Amino acid sequence: MVTGELVRLRPLEPEDADAFWRWHNDPDVVRWLVADYDESLAQIRRRFAERGPNTYSNVAFGIETLAEGRLIGSCTLRDASPETARAWFDLYIGEKDHWGGGFGTDATRTLCRYGFEMMRLHSIALWVVAENAAAVRAYEKVGFRVDGRHRESFRGAGRWHDELLMSLLEGELT
Ligand SMILES: CC(C)(COP(=O)(O)OP(=O)(O)OC[C@H]1O[C@@H](n2cnc3c(N)ncnc32)[C@H](O)[C@@H]1OP(=O)(O)O)[C@@H](O)C(=O)NCCC(=O)NCCS
Repeated sequence: MVTGELVRLRPLEPEDADAFWRWHNDPDVVRWLVADYDESLAQIRRRFAERGPNTYSNVAFGIETLAEGRLIGSCTLRDASPETARAWFDLYIGEKDHWGGGFGTDATRTLCRYGFEMMRLHSIALWVVAENAAAVRAYEKVGFRVDGRHRESFRGAGRWHDELLMSLLEGELT
């Protein structure tokens, strides 16, 4: 387990499947996330039951509140390789009543610290829809900077949106 100021990051359990299914079917939660094909509850339960351990190239954590021990979201570092010392970061807080409480920022900071200290990464990168102001702000608060803009690369709500490529280098985490 990895502990921050507000959250604890812990490996995913088979029992987490139902919460993920609920979050994936909430239009507010998935609004700015890349759409995947719909999964039935039985399929997601089977996927979680068969999930292998975290590895260097695929680290996935559930985000629990430190205060209540409640599962509120998920974050990952994926596609890391020792040759590049780089990984891609994903995050979402699925429990909307916890939005705006600093949990997303703390989970980002906590997982990036894990990436730099435990995995010895040199850089962590992500794509975020430019209009997703809360996410951009959370990433900037821990030190991510905008590297570039991919114009009209995300389709959502019937139109195209720009995405930002952001990255954080070892030593820049605040
Ligand atoms: C985006 C998300 C991760 C942010 O996490 P959070 O816990 O709600 O955000 P935090 O409480 O840590 O706040 C982050 C910052 O964004 C600001 N913020 C929150 N909502 C905002 C909004 N609608 N517009 C502008 N800024 C906003 C907060 O005020 C805070 O900045 P501050 O401390 O300077 O005031 C979370 O809302 C979420 O998971 N949303 C759905 C999925 C998603 O979009 N994931 C990111 C994909 S890249």
